[in-house]
Amino acid sequence: MMTETNHTPRYPNRLSAGYIAASLSSKAGRFFRLTALLIVLLVISPAADAAAQSLTIYSGRSKALVEPLIKKFEAEHGIRMNVRYGGSTQLAVALLEEGRRTPADVFWAQDAGALGAVHRNGMFETLPSDLLSLLPEQLHNSEGTWIATSGRARVMAYSTSRVDTALLPGSIFGLADRQWRGRVGWAPSNGSFQSLLTSMRLQKGDDVILQWLRDMRGNNAQSYINNSAMLQALAAGEIDIALTNHYYLFRFRETDPGFPVEQTFFAHGDAGNLVNVAGIGMLKTAGNKDEALAFMKFLLEEEHQQWVTQEVYEYPVLEGMSTQSVDTPLRDIQELSPDLDLDDLSDLNRTLDLLRRAGLL
Ligand SMILES: [Fe+2]
Repeated sequence: MMTETNHTPRYPNRLSAGYIAASLSSKAGRFFRLTALLIVLLVISPAADAAAQSLTIYSGRSKALVEPLIKKFEAEHGIRMNVRYGGSTQLAVALLEEGRRTPADVFWAQDAGALGAVHRNGMFETLPSDLLSLLPEQLHNSEGTWIATSGRARVMAYSTSRVDTALLPGSIFGLADRQWRGRVGWAPSNGSFQSLLTSMRLQKGDDVILQWLRDMRGNNAQSYINNSAMLQALAAGEIDIALTNHYYLFRFRETDPGFPVEQTFFAHGDAGNLVNVAGIGMLKTAGNKDEALAFMKFLLEEEHQQWVTQEVYEYPVLEGMSTQSVDTPLRDIQELSPDLDLDDLSDLNRTLDLLRRAGLL
């Protein structure tokens, strides 16, 4: 009885000159050997290329949002894309767990905090200066290990029919006043809200923020599962003010130009303002660094930045790009925001702890 062997066909990666000379020495077999050699070369070259030309992305940006861009890059550059989608925080945790064994080449997150967590664990490679110099300084972290791909601002959205804009508070802390009792919506489990809280904590201290959370809860702030549900509730009259991200209103206006909501920022330098970013970093352990850098450059090309603005109403990160669809240029909004090292937004655990202590999670 024949024993089955674990037989793996092996193809030579390189054919030595000696091997080729020997193959060709027999005149009789010359034609067939040459043909066989060509076939071997044809079979192994595409395989070798495919192995080199691939890129593994961990994407905290949703598939619906970014798949068209990823497909476009794949088609234009002939680089096979492997994408793992997930929440930005969840993927950051996965990267920290996988450590040097991670298959990821790049991490594209929709929140600076998730990028900061990976950076602070020393897992990101320093990016080349020709890539960093494409962006204003505030749009990459100070050590140059990740770059922003778009901007996302916190806003106060309000009902155009039930709110007198003259009475809107200049500070987010004003929303705990009695006149707003039961009228304010927020989304305590939402990542962007939690990043805002982290930023507020870093400026005002944990005790002040814990007290504010308790005051807001005592003032009957209404919790929503996500920003879309909250904006719908705002339009329907359940609440009069919503703490949200800037782009939701623009998305609602797409299908309903008369959507009865407007939005604004808090006063200059108020802790309620925050320009967060989506961004991308390359792992030190990446096996496909050229492809990773090509993808990052692709995302910063004007055409693809335009796509971000027009499709999802986030802010383009390139200086001087038109931002008609989002009202105010990113640079002006950044001036409203308090000074902050975006890597610091990675300090999420204490924020979650405060939310739990205030009974909000
Ligand atoms: Fe969002």
